[in-house]
Amino acid sequence: MLKNRVALVTGGGRGIGAACATLLAQAGASVALLDLDAASAEARATAIRESGGRALGMGCDVTDAAAVERAFARVIAELGGLQVLVNNAGSAVRVPATEIALDDWRKVVELNLTAVFSCARTAARHMLAHGGGAIVNIASIMGLSGGIYPNASYQASKGGVVNLTRALALEWAAQGVRVNAVAPTFVRTALTEAVFSDPERRAAVMAHTPLGVLPEPEDIAAAVLYLASPAARCVTGIVLPVDSGYLAR
Ligand SMILES: NC(=O)c1ccc[n+]([C@@H]2O[C@H](COP(=O)([O-])OP(=O)(O)OC[C@H]3O[C@@H](n4cnc5c(N)ncnc54)[C@H](O)[C@@H]3O)[C@@H](O)[C@H]2O)c1
Repeated sequence: MLKNRVALVTGGGRGIGAACATLLAQAGASVALLDLDAASAEARATAIRESGGRALGMGCDVTDAAAVERAFARVIAELGGLQVLVNNAGSAVRVPATEIALDDWRKVVELNLTAVFSCARTAARHMLAHGGGAIVNIASIMGLSGGIYPNASYQASKGGVVNLTRALALEWAAQGVRVNAVAPTFVRTALTEAVFSDPERRAAVMAHTPLGVLPEPEDIAAAVLYLASPAARCVTGIVLPVDSGYLAR
């Protein structure tokens, strides 16, 4: 499905990003994994290579625009191009709005929104000049709802990703760069450990899960693969929830 394509996944060392990198490699892409934690990116790349895929893992802080430029240039040089970007790196500081330090607010917005923009345009500069590509941003159901407990910085940043996705899709559509987003509900990863280890929060999550089953990272990766692949050649500017029914209410 993605033979002869190069895909770059930010935050690819673990969780949803690692699942995306693995599935994109299984679909035939050469995959670059960038992560703040270089060791996890390299370990996941090694695992992909050992299963017969082509992968390159490296450390990169996606909030550092100069580091992003250098890392993307290295991927393009070493893997021979860039046709797919998965903007996955993200984080949360779950503190009530009246309590959150502005520095923490800024860190969340910097990683979840500004870095998504800077990675998208770094990739697009290459894609626009080389026949197009597909960008998939990992938003969240929290970008489409107010959430179920206080987390305003996260909700605001992911809401920004939703509308950034639409704006970039329109800006680049005529030149063959598609931009879409996936909006997961709660997925068990390191990011949500604190949510799932708190019985009250876990119960609240399940009360907002009509299907009664939450997605695994691989379920999110499946949606990413669809949007990244030629099967979605006429799809741009959409936000695809993988939400077990959360948004249907
Ligand atoms: N887990 C969920 O319930 C859930 C739900 C909706 C959306 N999401 C989104 O999915 C994405 C992945 O989440 P996850 O649950 O796999 O989280 P995770 O914490 O397990 O993984 C995030 C990865 O991003 C990396 N990272 C963090 N800061 C970075 C930086 N500055 N530069 C490069 N890499 C960095 C981390 O090292 C880690 O490997 C995030 O954007 C998150 O907001 C997650």
